[in-house]
Amino acid sequence: KMQLVKDKIMTGQKVLITAGPTREAIDPVRYLTNHSSGKMGYALAKAAIQRGADVTLITGPVHLEEPKGLATFIQVETAEDMFQAVKAHVDHQDIIIKSAAVADYRPAIYHQQKMKKSDEDLVLTLNRNPDILKWIGMHKKPHQFIVGFAAETNDIMENGVSKLKAKGTDLMIINDITRSDAGFQSDTNQVILVSKKGEQQQLPVMPKSQLAHIILDNIIA
Ligand code: CTP
Ligand code: CA
Repeated sequence: KMQLVKDKIMTGQKVLITAGPTREAIDPVRYLTNHSSGKMGYALAKAAIQRGADVTLITGPVHLEEPKGLATFIQVETAEDMFQAVKAHVDHQDIIIKSAAVADYRPAIYHQQKMKKSDEDLVLTLNRNPDILKWIGMHKKPHQFIVGFAAETNDIMENGVSKLKAKGTDLMIINDITRSDAGFQSDTNQVILVSKKGEQQQLPVMPKSQLAHIILDNIIA
């Protein structure tokens, strides 16, 4: 019975989660993307649903089933699509968790027809995509709590902490993506939590489903 009470601790809370990669088309055949599987974001959505939250999931293309019990499910392809969906839903949210691996760039030109190869090397020009998390941080309402993820290969803490500040987040989940038991495709993850106040918590390797609950516990605390 105690467990039941604890599990519904987020009843009435509105939670927006973004998950997965984005996909930036070059032509009808090719696109730019990254290794994100969406597993961490979907695990967070499931954990928040279990706790009674009203969850909106905005997801890039992934091979995962829609979690049961979502309030809203929005599938997007590009960073720009994700940005529009976030802007349309962010206002009434209490907690925003940006676990998506948003492509930082998109091809400057979308070729309507398949690009033909030639004997020359090809140079693609890429344009910057909007930084969605930074936009959320800039438009944060007093009642909102914002969580970001930082994917790092080197100078993990330094880079993660500077992202926390640059993006105006309340909590940053720092991921060392060089580890095989953590990050993009893995069912497990190993992260460091850093709060705006500077509190740090290094967590052991664990299933993403379990980590999701620890992240939610930290948000609630
Ligand atoms: N993010 C975002 N929009 C982008 C790029 C990133 O909202 N266009 C968010 C991600 O969802 C994540 C956080 O910003 O929560 C950090 O993403 P990351 O790729 O680690 O950092 P960047 O700021 O993009 O810096 P870089 O890739 O150069 O390390
Ligand atoms: Ca990035």
